Amino acid sequence: EKGGHEYFMLKEIEEQPDALANTLRGHFEAGKIVLDEQRISEQDLRDVDKVFVVACGSAYHSGLVAKYAIEHWCRLPVEVELASEFRYRDPVLDRDTLVVAVSQSGETADTLEAVRHARAQKARVLAVCNTNGAQIPRESDAVLYTHAGPEIGVASTKAFLAQIAANYLVGLALAQARGTKYPDEVAREFAELEAMPAAVHKVLSTVDQVRDMGRKLADSKAVLFLGRHVGFPVALEGALKLKELAYMHAEGFAAGELKHGPIALIEEGLPVVVVMPSPKGRAMLHAKLVSNISEIQARGARTIVIAEEGDDRVRPFADELVEIPAVPTLLQPLVSTVPLQVLAAEIARTRGYDVDKPRNLAKSVTVE
Ligand code: M6R
Repeated sequence: EKGGHEYFMLKEIEEQPDALANTLRGHFEAGKIVLDEQRISEQDLRDVDKVFVVACGSAYHSGLVAKYAIEHWCRLPVEVELASEFRYRDPVLDRDTLVVAVSQSGETADTLEAVRHARAQKARVLAVCNTNGAQIPRESDAVLYTHAGPEIGVASTKAFLAQIAANYLVGLALAQARGTKYPDEVAREFAELEAMPAAVHKVLSTVDQVRDMGRKLADSKAVLFLGRHVGFPVALEGALKLKELAYMHAEGFAAGELKHGPIALIEEGLPVVVVMPSPKGRAMLHAKLVSNISEIQARGARTIVIAEEGDDRVRPFADELVEIPAVPTLLQPLVSTVPLQVLAAEIARTRGYDVDKPRNLAKSVTVE
């Protein structure tokens, strides 16, 4: 059932184009974004003045990615919170707050309690969930299902990409209701999302190259991940994958923080994975990251660079280079995450670990 693969995770990584296509299907009808079980009225969506995304683990990272898009498209403040922190705080919420609860399983205890906490304060809660009829969607005002299909590997892959797509649909629905985007702009953004399954398919052609790299990195003591803008949550996700699968010390940093501490960690031979923004789409950020990479390389880091195809400026600073297709900046996490998933899985496999069932972890965390 692993479809000829050594482990489920690799099969699920390869299913990501379908997970995205299935999640987007049916959500743009008659020129408008439509959500699933929409028990939040258009008027209520229009009145939203603040958004919280609450989630755990990879789902939390999907929320961090979405913050960049929702703020940009909707001109709304967006806070992304670990459910386990949100539920024990006294967040400022009211009926004009939209709380987006993201959960693959729909059963995560902390996320469920965060939903209850939000609803008790009259906030509207929209669940983004991969499991039909799970508890979190049952207790929410509205649901948007990700259609990634069942995810067997404990490490989230296709569900994570589908969560980003679904969060983006929520953002577009809000922008449409609030009028912060014209209908033709919403249509264009949706069309760009619809082009992503093909882009993800393309990035899958790097799997063998990245597996080779993973084998070479398997003896490392630690790996750092750097990114800026939407590349920052991708760095966090890459580090989480490596921790949970390869039991290796891994940290994701915002590249702009390097000089505020993390650069002290750089030593001869330390692998550092860098997620590059597009040289055309984000020229200024790109230049800053090139300068960050040159600094860490000068201190002996072994740089593994994920960059847009044709990015010649970064090439001299890349000890290893993985090319990803050129896509709109906000959508880049859908392609840049894929090599990081493969890298973590292959490092784990080389170290002799069970990629689908990492130690100490459960697929769904129904206790605190
Ligand atoms: O089912 P959920 O999306 O609520 O699960 C949240 C986290 O437990 C989950 O993403 C976890 O971090 C994964 N093992 C990450 O790969």
